[in-house]
Amino acid sequence: MSEFRLSQRVQVNPHVIRSTGNKVSNRNLKARQMLGKYRIRRRVGAGAFATVYEAYDTIEGIRVALKVPHRELLGKHSLAEIHREVRLTARLEHENILPLRNAMMIDDYFIIATPLGQQTLTDRLRYRLGPATALSYAEQLIDALAYAHEKRIIHCDIKPCNVIIFDGHELRLADFGIAKVAMKTRTIAGSGQGTVGYIAPEQAMGKPSFRSDVFSLGLVMVRMFSGHLPEWPFDWPPQGADRLRRTLSRDFVDFLRRSIEVRERKRFRDGVQMQKAFQRLAPKALRGRNGRGAA
Ligand SMILES: Nc1ncnc2c1ncn2[C@@H]1O[C@H](COP(=O)(O)OP(=O)(O)O)[C@@H](O)[C@H]1O
Ligand SMILES: [Mg+2]
Repeated sequence: MSEFRLSQRVQVNPHVIRSTGNKVSNRNLKARQMLGKYRIRRRVGAGAFATVYEAYDTIEGIRVALKVPHRELLGKHSLAEIHREVRLTARLEHENILPLRNAMMIDDYFIIATPLGQQTLTDRLRYRLGPATALSYAEQLIDALAYAHEKRIIHCDIKPCNVIIFDGHELRLADFGIAKVAMKTRTIAGSGQGTVGYIAPEQAMGKPSFRSDVFSLGLVMVRMFSGHLPEWPFDWPPQGADRLRRTLSRDFVDFLRRSIEVRERKRFRDGVQMQKAFQRLAPKALRGRNGRGAA
């Protein structure tokens, strides 16, 4: 059981609290409570859009993550939008994208069930990542993004806590499209901009595009390889650049730099272009013996 233990820390997005006038009006689900065939085990965390619980599927005999959107997001308007986004996600079938197991109304709750991961990339980043691991993680995330962009779907919220880790090394990108609903709702509620963190400058101004996903993933990659998250105004070289130069080829450092260009047009057009460049550079990306660098 312990291998499924996630960080107990509950993450509450301050913007949610502000956007609802200091009242997060969620009836919390209790441990052992039944919801259809699911038995709640515990609350795993909360984001801008939903509370996430670990639950046991009493029919299939497996553990799942149940995502329960915050009640205040479930006005009629946004329920229709959530349905649309759920349908969108249901179409995505890729080994590095978190699959939907189920989405339904149970007892007045709207519930999205997905496989339960071990931890998020946020949890993993509390410890240093070796360059070989970071390269494998980067590849998996780029593959997921290229696939989604081929299907003309923008993620809109690529960040480490939306990357779920399974079996130590398999990454799955979560929350496709759902961010868009949450973002809109936040805007309607007039709470201003979301947490800047991993959001591209143009997206923060309300104009997300494929290139914004490229930027966010670029930040995640720089964070993984350098140990530091670049911040506005995203000048180059970023903090931790010495580690990049020590462990990565010059071309690969340029690849990272190009992913987080503030000027949209200088970035890769989309995940597909990013993937092409990555595949060309990855075999020689790592400095040091056997390309293993300081792994
Ligand atoms: N499939 C999953 N498996 C394990 N933990 C998950 C899963 N989905 C979400 N979580 C956890 O729940 C937390 C809240 O998720 P979410 O509502 O998507 O907010 P955010 O992505 O902003 O953190 C995540 O940070 C993560 O710790
Ligand atoms: Mg999420």
